[in-house]
Amino acid sequence: MSEKRFPISVEVNGKPRIGEVPARLSLVDWLRDELRLTGTHVGCEHGICGACSVLLDGEPVRACLMLAVQADGHSVRTVEGLGKPDGSPGLLQDSFCEMHAMQCGYCTPGMLIAAHALLEAVPKPTEDEIREAIGGNLCRCTGYQQIVDAIRHAALRLESGKR
Ligand code: FES
Ligand code: FES
Repeated sequence: MSEKRFPISVEVNGKPRIGEVPARLSLVDWLRDELRLTGTHVGCEHGICGACSVLLDGEPVRACLMLAVQADGHSVRTVEGLGKPDGSPGLLQDSFCEMHAMQCGYCTPGMLIAAHALLEAVPKPTEDEIREAIGGNLCRCTGYQQIVDAIRHAALRLESGKR
């Protein structure tokens, strides 16, 4: 007997997307495997590492801990949705490049999502606020300092109107 599937309708990066998903399919698997939005990474699959972070109605969530059916009727933004409309890197992505805030890049999508949510809420964050905002995202490579610097750099660019 084939597994029962449920219809979902989700706004993903500003576009309406529909699907028919098994009840136990995680949101991150739907995004990556069915929508081919592979910018969102899968690490621990236990809610620990933050690599799978996406914005759900503007708030960062772990997409490995959410079911795709739970996103029905909501809006999801992935790292692909942080770029400029012409497809070039957005402010934070550009700042991460400028400040060398990535090495292997595995944590980067989740860090960008956490940083984006922070700057939306607190455009001029302190270093403590930046560290707090990315505190749930693990990075094995950078030692975090360049990531903090990149987020501060993006905030300064935001303040000066240079996007
Ligand atoms: S893959 Fe979701 S928190 Fe690690
Ligand atoms: S850059 Fe490798 S895990 Fe962060």
